Amino acid sequence: MRIFKKAAVLLMTAALFIMLSSCAQEIVQTGEDEARGLPVVGFSQLGAESDWRSANTLSMKENISEENGYTLIFDDGQQKQNNQIMAIRKFIQQEVDYIVLAPVTEEGWDTVLEEAKEAGIPVIIVDRMVNVNDENLFTAWVGSDFELEAEKLTAWMNEFFTVSGIDKSNINIVNIQGNIGASAQIGRTTGLRNACAQYGWNLLDEVSGEFTQAKGREVMEMFLKKYDNINIVYCENDNEAIGAIEAIESAGKEVGTDIMNGQIMVVSFDGVGKTALELAKQGKISCIAECNPMHGPRVKAIIDALELGLNPEKLEYVPEELFSADKTVSSYILDGKVYKVTELE
Ligand code: AHR
Repeated sequence: MRIFKKAAVLLMTAALFIMLSSCAQEIVQTGEDEARGLPVVGFSQLGAESDWRSANTLSMKENISEENGYTLIFDDGQQKQNNQIMAIRKFIQQEVDYIVLAPVTEEGWDTVLEEAKEAGIPVIIVDRMVNVNDENLFTAWVGSDFELEAEKLTAWMNEFFTVSGIDKSNINIVNIQGNIGASAQIGRTTGLRNACAQYGWNLLDEVSGEFTQAKGREVMEMFLKKYDNINIVYCENDNEAIGAIEAIESAGKEVGTDIMNGQIMVVSFDGVGKTALELAKQGKISCIAECNPMHGPRVKAIIDALELGLNPEKLEYVPEELFSADKTVSSYILDGKVYKVTELE
């Protein structure tokens, strides 16, 4: 028995030693970089749920790099706000020079951002927004106008139905939403609800697909069992659309724009991953509202400006357009402005 106890103590000590030395490695690495004079940037990415997210992470890693004069400490929050809060606290302990945060949801950031402010570390928000009491808790934000993306997509849908002579009474939509509480979900859901009210479309249901292919498929399977009149699937990102198409085709139904003859139209957001763009070229995703993930160069420019003691713009919206292989709608009008649709070939 005593031998077992001794062995257990030895094992626990060894495990603790390994844990401590891996933590130390991170600190030593930062120390070396600081010694070389490179400013250190801690980036809390919210997760790796979609093709868009992978492209966004790559853009950040390529730009906030040693070749460009920065050391990047990357942390994947795995879609959990708590993990992101812990990462920010660790960055503060490590005394990084800048913190970049891609927040999973909008609410609940005041306390930790106040801690960063007290430590004198500028915070740059990317992609989704934070809803905080004091705008001075972050220095700058770079991202998308998610509601405008939805307004563009629904304007395209309205133009398509009008040109094709499809009456509003025939439109039955289901919405596979993103993560509830994320800016991308809030803006895209709001845009669809407003369009349904404005154009008189029937919104059958809304359920979160968590921005993933697996959950998108699961939600679509459930919708198909519950409703027999769905003819539009509005997916709040491309990965959900890929999953929804799998579910529709497995149920023996067809995707496409011919909704008066039984096809189900799928529309979505992003336009980043190969699979989704291929599905759009085949006409299986009828229209994609672009969500631009290339934040790296913009964040680098903000940090470069801060390094020079300059004041960067507080809010920076990335440019975005619509993609479709269907030729029915080549342009559409929104708030009196004419937008062109980029044709996929
Ligand atoms: O916040 C941007 C959204 O998050 C993208 O549309 C989606 O693919 C990602 O998961």
